[in-house]
Formats: sequence, C-alpha cells, structure tokens
Amino acid sequence: MTMTHLMQDFQAMPFATTVALGGLSLLFYFLIRGFLSNRRGGLSKLPPPPVVPGLPLIGNLLQLKEKKPYKTFTRWAEIYGPIYSIRTGASTMIVLNSADVAKEAMVTRFSSISTRKLSNALKILTFDKCMVATSDYNEFHKMVKRHILANVLGANAQKRHRCHRDTMRENISNRLHAYVKSCPLQAVNFRKIFESELFGLALKQALGKDVRSIYVEELSTALSREEIFKVLVTDVMEGAIEVDWRDFFPYLRWIPNKSVEMKINRMSFRRQAVMKALIKEQKKRIASGEEISCYIDYLLSEAKTLTEEQIYMLLWEVIVETSDTTLVTTEWAMYELAKDPTRQERLHQEIRNVCGFDKVTEENLSQLPYLSAVFHETLRKHSPAPIVPLRYAHEDTQLGGYYIPAGSEIAVNIYGCNTDKKQWEKPEEWMPERFLDEKYDPMDLYKTMAFGGGKRACAGSLQAMLISCTAIGRLVQEFEWRLRDGEEENVDTFGLTTHKLQPMHAILKPRE
Ligand code: HEM
Ligand SMILES: *[C@@H]1O[C@H](CO)[C@@H](O)[C@H](O)[C@H]1NC(C)=O
Ligand SMILES: *[C@@H]1O[C@H](CO)[C@@H](O)[C@H](O)[C@H]1NC(C)=O
Ligand SMILES: *[C@@H]1O[C@H](CO)[C@@H](O)[C@H](O)[C@H]1NC(C)=O
Repeated sequence: MTMTHLMQDFQAMPFATTVALGGLSLLFYFLIRGFLSNRRGGLSKLPPPPVVPGLPLIGNLLQLKEKKPYKTFTRWAEIYGPIYSIRTGASTMIVLNSADVAKEAMVTRFSSISTRKLSNALKILTFDKCMVATSDYNEFHKMVKRHILANVLGANAQKRHRCHRDTMRENISNRLHAYVKSCPLQAVNFRKIFESELFGLALKQALGKDVRSIYVEELSTALSREEIFKVLVTDVMEGAIEVDWRDFFPYLRWIPNKSVEMKINRMSFRRQAVMKALIKEQKKRIASGEEISCYIDYLLSEAKTLTEEQIYMLLWEVIVETSDTTLVTTEWAMYELAKDPTRQERLHQEIRNVCGFDKVTEENLSQLPYLSAVFHETLRKHSPAPIVPLRYAHEDTQLGGYYIPAGSEIAVNIYGCNTDKKQWEKPEEWMPERFLDEKYDPMDLYKTMAFGGGKRACAGSLQAMLISCTAIGRLVQEFEWRLRDGEEENVDTFGLTTHKLQPMHAILKPRE
C-alpha cells in the first residue's frame, strides 16, 4: 500500500476508528511518560487528574454556541470532581472548580503557573499582553501594576478620586428621580443610566475629564459619547468572547475564520484611533498649564520609559475595567433585591437604623453588614468574571495531589467555585444572610472567588466595592424597587463577563 493510499484511508476512516487510534496514542503517551518519569523526581509518583473522556462533541458545540463554557465545566465537575483535564488535539487543559484547588493554583503553585495563555483575538485586543490584567508576571507587570495602584486603584488613589464617585452617585439619584417624576409607574432601564454615569467616572479617573463628543482624525468623523462608549467598551468586550470559545476548546482552533480576524483588527484599529484622539485633547490641556490629578497626567509626566502605544493601552485598560464588571454586579444586585421584597425591606431597615435620614456614604459601609452581604452574595451567584483568563504551567507542577505537566493550560472556573455544592449550601439561591455568619470577616473582599486570589487577584476590588455598595445602598434608601411584570424570568447572560442579557427594567417608587 502506498503512502497516498494510507492517507486516503485515514481520511475516510469513520469516527470510531479515529477514537481507537486516539486510544492507541494515549497508550503510547503513557509508555513515554513512564519512561520519562524518572526525571520528574517526587512529582512522578503523582497520578494524572481524571480525564473527561471522549468529549461529547455535539453537546460541547451546543454549549459553545451559547458561549458559556463555565456552565459545561461546572456540570462536568459534578461527575469528575473539582479538578479534571480535558484532552484536546494539541494540548491539555486542567479545569479547576473548587476554591481549594483554585487557591492552590493561584497561591501555592503560583510560581509555576503565572503565565497567561491568550487567544489570537485577545493578543490583538490586549496589544500582546500590554495591560496589567493580561501581562505575564514579569518586570513590566510589576511596573505597570505599581502605576495603576498608585494612581487609580490603591486606597490612597481611591481617596483622591472620591469626588468623582460622589458626583456619580448624585447624578444617578437625580436622573432616577427625574425619570420617576416625568413618567411615574413606567419601568426604568437602570443599566442605561448607571452605565453612562460609570463611564463618566472611568473617563475622569483616566483622562481627568468626561467627554461629550470627539473628532477622530483617523476615522474622519466626530463620535458622540455613546459612540465612544461603544468603540472603547461594548465592541471590544463582545469581540473578545466572539472567538474565545476556540480558546477553551483548542481542538477547534484550527478552524480558520478570516471574518473574525478582520473584525477584531478593525475593532482594535477603531479603539486605538479613539484613544489617540482623546489623549491628544488631554495633551493640549496639559500644555496649556491645566493639570488634573488623573492617570494620564501621571503617566505622561512620570512614566517616561513607556511608549505611546503602552500608554494608550494602560489608559484604555482602566476605562474598560471600570465600565464593565461593576455595572454587571450592581445590576444583578438590584435585580435580586427588586425580585425579593422581604430582603429589600431588611436592607432598607438596616440603612434606616444606621443612617437615619442621612444619605449612605462610603464611611458608613463598615456599619452596614447586610449591605455588604448583598454585594458578596451577588458576586457569588453572578460572578462577573466567570473564568479567569487562561494561564498555563510553564514547568511541571502539581495540583490537588495530581501531576500537572509543563505546558498544561489552566482554567480557573470561578463560577464553578462559587456554586460548589460542597462549599455552599443551596448555591442556586440568592441568600445574603449566609455572609452574616461570624466566620466571615465583614471587610474581607475575598469571601468568594469572584476577585480571583493570590498575587494576581483583582486590583480593582476596592473600587468595585466602594462604587457598587454605596450605589446599592442609596438606590434602596431612596426608592422601593419592583420588577416589571415578566422580568423575573430574565436571568440569561451574555458576554465575556456575565452581563444580564435583558437589561433589568424596574418600577421605582420614591420613599419619602
Ligand atoms: C465586581 C467587579 C470585578 C470583578 C468580579 C473582577 C474580577 C477580577 C478577577 C477574577 C481578576 C483575576 C484575574 C487572575 O487571577 O488572573 C481580576 C484582575 C484584575 N482586575 Fe478585576 N474585577 C472587578 C473589578 C475591577 C475594576 C473596577 C478594575 C479597575 C478599574 C479591575 C482591575 C483589575 C486588574 C488591573 C486586574 C489584574 C491584576 C493583576 O493581574 O495583577 N477589576 N479582576
Ligand atoms: C454628572 O452630571 C454632570 C452634569 O450633567 C456631568 O457634567 C458630569 O460629568 C456627571 N458626572 C459623572 C461622574 O458622570
Ligand atoms: C466566523 O465568524 C463569523 C462572524 O463572526 C461567524 O458568523 C461564523 O459563524 C464563523 N465561522 C466559524 C467557522 O467559526
Ligand atoms: C456616615 O458617614 C458620614 C460621613 O460621610 C458621617 O458624617 C456619618 O456620621 C456616618 N453615619 C454613621 C451612622 O456612621
């Protein structure tokens, strides 16, 4: 038989044969591994993690179409346990679904698992890891993390940006009161108002000023504020998920898709054009002698080693991170409260008892344990970042008592950790009371896995808490919330983060 015949036969082979061949190569793999195991010292005695066998291809594809691999991962965890591997054509992915193994990966084994694995789309969208959140753990990361903490996200920086958050809260409150006054009993689209104000805050922290519109030279057009938001936030977040399922299931990655790649490149170009126009305007301001305490002023005067591209990416990073996950959390919290009059009343009573008729402020948060519990329970049930952007093991290591060979991709399924039946009683229920238990430190931001853990834990958790908790407090203090009829069932999500698919519509009644 000639080689060509062999190849033709191979291509004609039915699926079952392919699987059998796969089995053979697995056997071969184990032989080789046994052979090499002497070189791995202590790790060699460890077994490999359970394998999800013969991927149910059709089922996965359906799941992929929905773009929610974290749900599939969580279902598999019920069968295969908190840690298992998925074998794919080219690589192995280890999926972690409980807080114990996730923390082991993020803390104890961090030195072996600190490198990011990015899809092609994310490589383009993050300018090849040129962001704090997507960078590998190296000198660049340490430097830009220092910048972002010192100027935007650290406790002192957050104090300096306090005035913007106060304005934002007043604006949201005023806009809701105005809406209720002009159309009483009509449901309000909360997201529309909150998103727009949050974006204003993001721009002020990054660039010193909110914008109404801007002329973008490279696009030869003027963009409105809504269009700027779309280019900088909405489009990119959608673009990232568009192709990302190919990351989770790399055996599909070979499927070439020119149209996706073109779309991502176009997105990236538009984002860069808008950021450059925004930066140019602020450079004019600075040249005219007007200084503002914000990220761009700092980066331009202090971070001389950064290139123009790096500066625009770092500024874009805080804009997109501020604008997205905090909205997701706050909207889900208001949905749960509007759906649950008893718990809403409990929160209202707590606020009334502590603050009387004074408006809830950030200083008051430490005295409002139920409000804090509402925030954390929302992070648990609706984890805004359901899967940590993939990492991979750059050297042999172990997790959960299993051997993890170098090159394995590591997926921390935050959603799975936060709905693990072994850790959480009735995980499917939204029950803030669970966080009133004395075993929880009231001010601990890491009660759930929502912010990740270890050295790469979320740098913006303090800001997210300050914005979201006070917003929820003020909104419940000032209005009685009720879902519009038929809203209860709208629990579907979309996107890289767990956006509510349908914006919540609620009917508000001002409290006197
Ligand atoms: C409720 C809101 C938020 C959630 C649930 C969330 C979640 C996360 C998670 C899970 C990670 C860890 C990634 C990893 O371990 O590899 C992370 C990292 C990060 N987040 Fe957040 N985040 C939120 C809000 C924010 C905000 C408001 C900002 C900034 C404006 C922000 C900035 C960052 C940065 C810079 C990192 C990277 C830290 C590092 O790699 O050292 N996050 N976030
Ligand atoms: C609040 O509203 C004012 C007036 O409409 C606006 O100038 C300001 O940018 C808003 N603040 C924020 C944080 O969006
Ligand atoms: C390629 O991308 C387009 C546009 O996003 C999408 O509609 C199409 O289904 C994709 N094709 C494949 C094979 O993934
Ligand atoms: C709430 O915070 C404000 C300052 O922001 C403070 O004046 C007030 O006393 C606090 N209320 C309580 C009950 O601590």
